[in-house]
Amino acid sequence: MSKAKRLYIKTYGCQMNVYDSERMAEAMGGAGYVETDTPDDADMILLNTCHIREKAAEKVYSELGRFKGLKEAKPDLKIGVAGCVAQAEGQEIMRRQPMVDLVVGPQSYHRLPELEAKTQEGAKALDTEFPVDDKFDTLRHRPKAKRGPTAFLTVQEGCDKFCAFCVVPYTRGAEVSRPVGRIVEEAQDLVERGVREITLLGQNVNAYHGAGPDGVDWSLAKLIWELDKVDGLERIRFTTSHPNDMTDDLIEAHGACAKLMPYLHLPVQSGSDRILKRMNRSHTAESYLRLIERIRAARPDIVLSGDFIVGFPEESEQDFQDTIDLIEEVKYGYAYSFKYSTRPGTPAAERDQLPEDVKTERLHRLQARITHHQRIIQDDMVGRTVSVLFEKPGRLPGQMVGKSDYLHAVHVADADVGIGQLAQVEIIESGSNSLAGRIVSK
Ligand code: 5AD
Ligand code: SF4
Repeated sequence: MSKAKRLYIKTYGCQMNVYDSERMAEAMGGAGYVETDTPDDADMILLNTCHIREKAAEKVYSELGRFKGLKEAKPDLKIGVAGCVAQAEGQEIMRRQPMVDLVVGPQSYHRLPELEAKTQEGAKALDTEFPVDDKFDTLRHRPKAKRGPTAFLTVQEGCDKFCAFCVVPYTRGAEVSRPVGRIVEEAQDLVERGVREITLLGQNVNAYHGAGPDGVDWSLAKLIWELDKVDGLERIRFTTSHPNDMTDDLIEAHGACAKLMPYLHLPVQSGSDRILKRMNRSHTAESYLRLIERIRAARPDIVLSGDFIVGFPEESEQDFQDTIDLIEEVKYGYAYSFKYSTRPGTPAAERDQLPEDVKTERLHRLQARITHHQRIIQDDMVGRTVSVLFEKPGRLPGQMVGKSDYLHAVHVADADVGIGQLAQVEIIESGSNSLAGRIVSK
């Protein structure tokens, strides 16, 4: 038998890319590759890229530059670019970095083995199609390897919303939902391999409308209730959602489904109606706040998380203040905030841009308020008993680290628990980035 080849994958960007990288590794497993965690001994290097902001794409090009020496020392080394930069720039990548052998978009990665075979014949290989065949279909015969306690599962992909700043509708394509049966099958398989918590992924996951076994389309809430029945699956999360797709049944599930965790990532982007309109968000600050009220009525202890863009074209100081006001009202437990970054081909890229220093200054002010609320919410956990799913040993001997239902990292000293075990933990201390607790029951 010939020696297995080594594949090094570096993943950028969102959780869906993490999921895609796992699937790519599996697909390449069928072509005789095993994963390695260093590029130095690899036979193939694959960068799974992100195009959401400018810096993300630039990072890919500089990373490619760093592999030049490796490629010169080992001409047989294959270098591939996958993901959203691959989709957006295609052939341009090979022009800018001639040492790239392979370019594959996020909708065609099931064709990686064929593309790799082509590169072995000395040819360049490119596939950035949106094929009609289902990439998930070809990835069902995966090895039954043991998994950690948490996993991602893509249920929906693509976006039809066309926010004026965003490349996702162009790189990931139109919204597509996977059928319920396939998702349940994949969830059962993950549980058999040790997974206890599944995060359902989609660019607009709450717009999920996959075909149910009864022949009609199911909502995300209905899918969650179906997954609730999977024995051994203890926790369900989903990300990322659009406010307009928060349906009544999903809000209700947050109050009624014990396996659905009390955490919700619900990006608003801005608190100014004028900017929201310019962003083509199709909701207002007020409608978002009313929605949050309804979600909190269903699940009062829910921790909310959001995304914000500062310095969107035409954002005035007053518009920015409106965003701060919204943050003060919602009080997020977590948030991701970004300076607006022009993306070629999106409507907002054509508009007058704000100076960089204005964006930077607003970002700092916004982050200070986010951090303030985050701190209070984290500190408020002290004295409470939360459930923790243990994921790994801590840095100290005997210490174990896991995540609470609210997604806080929690560490426990002298914890007599294994990886993948759930326990009730009383929180005794709030540190800089994590909580400390002691187990009260298992
Ligand atoms: N500039 C800055 N941030 C962006 N995002 C998406 N596109 C851009 C852009 N052009 C942010 C949004 C989105 C998150 C995934 O990335 O906040 O919710
Ligand atoms: Fe991008 Fe999300 Fe808007 Fe879709 S809903 S265009 S993925 S920001």
